[in-house]
Amino acid sequence: MSASRVCALSDLEQDAAIRVEVDGVPMAVVLDSNGEVHAIGDTCTHGDISLAEGFVDGDTLECWAHGSAFSLRTGKPLNLPAYEPVPVYAVTIEGDDVLIDPTVTKK
Ligand code: FES
Repeated sequence: MSASRVCALSDLEQDAAIRVEVDGVPMAVVLDSNGEVHAIGDTCTHGDISLAEGFVDGDTLECWAHGSAFSLRTGKPLNLPAYEPVPVYAVTIEGDDVLIDPTVTKK
């Protein structure tokens, strides 16, 4: 499987997350304050909550429901109640296109 275009780079707001689906796989895509784009699994591992509805802080994305913050680099939750990581997907930028292959996880 090859990477699919999920959005334009210019669609992303700094320090905000959007939810995308690639081949049925939900992901939260974040442009961090360093200009780096991250993609992690969108479903919080503590409950059925979209992480894209949460809060970006540095290189973490915090679930709004109970406050677990997930690393955008490793997918690991940095605090309870979530204790299972979410997948981290490789992101490719081509011009203004953000491409993600849901079969390629970094962690
Ligand atoms: S549902 Fe995300 S921390 Fe509880």
